[in-house]
Amino acid sequence: MKPNDHLEPTVFVIFGGAGDLTWRKLVPALFDLSQDRSLPADFSVIAVDRVDLSDEKLRKRLHAGVKKFARHGMVKSSAWREFARHLHYQQGDFKKLHTYTALGEHCAKLEKEWGAKVHRIFYMATPPSLFGEIPKYLGKAGLARDRKLSRIVVEKPIGYDLESARVLNAILAANFEESQIFRIDHYLGKETVQNILAFRFANPLFEPLWNRRYVEYVTITAAEEVGVEHRGGYYDHAGALRDMVQNHLMQLLCLVAMEPMVSFNADEIRNKKVDVLHAVRPIHPDTVHQCVVRGQYGQGWVGGKNVPGYREEDGVSPDSQTETFVALRLFLDNWRWQGVPFYLRTGKRLARQASEITIQFRSVPHQSFPAESTLDWQSSRLTMSIHPDEGIVLRFQAKHPGPQMHLRSVEMKFNYRDTFAARSPDAYETLLWDVMKNDATLFMRSDQVEAAWRLLMPVLDVWAVAPPSDFPNYAAGTWGPEDTQGLLAQGHSWPLPTELVRRRGKKERSS
Ligand code: BG6
Repeated sequence: MKPNDHLEPTVFVIFGGAGDLTWRKLVPALFDLSQDRSLPADFSVIAVDRVDLSDEKLRKRLHAGVKKFARHGMVKSSAWREFARHLHYQQGDFKKLHTYTALGEHCAKLEKEWGAKVHRIFYMATPPSLFGEIPKYLGKAGLARDRKLSRIVVEKPIGYDLESARVLNAILAANFEESQIFRIDHYLGKETVQNILAFRFANPLFEPLWNRRYVEYVTITAAEEVGVEHRGGYYDHAGALRDMVQNHLMQLLCLVAMEPMVSFNADEIRNKKVDVLHAVRPIHPDTVHQCVVRGQYGQGWVGGKNVPGYREEDGVSPDSQTETFVALRLFLDNWRWQGVPFYLRTGKRLARQASEITIQFRSVPHQSFPAESTLDWQSSRLTMSIHPDEGIVLRFQAKHPGPQMHLRSVEMKFNYRDTFAARSPDAYETLLWDVMKNDATLFMRSDQVEAAWRLLMPVLDVWAVAPPSDFPNYAAGTWGPEDTQGLLAQGHSWPLPTELVRRRGKKERSS
């Protein structure tokens, strides 16, 4: 581990320290940080959970997680040993004050040992039902009192709807100041998502075109091949709108549509993002069926394997009405975007894993080429690939070599893998590092969370009283329900993922 003298002594408390998130994401990310960007010389992780574990047993379990998930891959035993000595376990009931007073004593002991004030980061990696409890106990035990030294990290989902989000935000606000609260949306930690701001505002080239005059429509897709995996119990109460749209897709929408920030300041950026949500035209309950499509996967084929339908998944009710797919058409009422549709879609068990944003530019105002030159005409399009492809593709027209003026579309590509030698850090690595540095830029503020819920509440309310009659309505391995096409204006289309386009292009050329 590389000690970093610029970082203050820190205790990282993980509530839910014996759970899946700690094992799969948090500790591998901390380990990677310890190998690269480093951690403070005085650093301790205290995993708190209800089960009976010793420090040794905890370390053994976390070692397996690090070997499996850390970016550094195979871990040298000396590196692991050096890191593992910072990991400790505390058994405790999350709803007993004693757990928190014991934590306070542990922190005080470390302060004495290290001879310095200790920064305390409290990470709630527990089931959401405890998100409203833990901050209260932290407050009661006096652990939130020092506004500069203590921080709380909240995982999504932040609430189940607008009302519960407000309640949770109020509990957090009663015990912590907003500057101490870090609400995680892991999409914001992805390099490609952070790059949206860099691409838009560090280059003078595209920003002049980034508006209703040149952009015809925008699509935002977060498609997954996987089903609900082992999370059926959680997912069946959430569904795609709560699980993906309220947070990840809304964040992407904000970054694509926001106005340029005046400075790279956390609140300035977050203000500009909230402005986007305020500009989204509210969805009237009467129009929910016209501008939102929901779906649930049935049995089908994914990656050459026959997979069960959603209702056959573990933890899912056999007559579940939960949506595993959502597509929406939104409009923004502001000068920049008036009249430009934003089409958003996300779903599980779709044909390909691909998170992408496409900016579809308008066609030329006057077609001066003869009709026979433009038989393969496709308007310019910019695709930002978020995951698993990471990069940007610009499609534009070029002259096909030969005696005729024949135009066809070609691509200019920027690919992270080819351009930057190093593998991108995992989103959690970036986000944990930012919490340690006390930088809230990549975290959700309470008003943003509530604005996103406010926008989606008419959909949830209408759905609650009008259960779907046609579920399952798409086969696993397809692009979702057919009704999704109905959201699109004439001439608009859902783009194929860039990788697919490339494969298809190769096939066409070789045939
Ligand atoms: C999580 C959702 O927030 O994001 C999951 O709860 C989803 O259902 C996941 O699979 C997708 O994230 P990523 O980083 O794998 O694209």
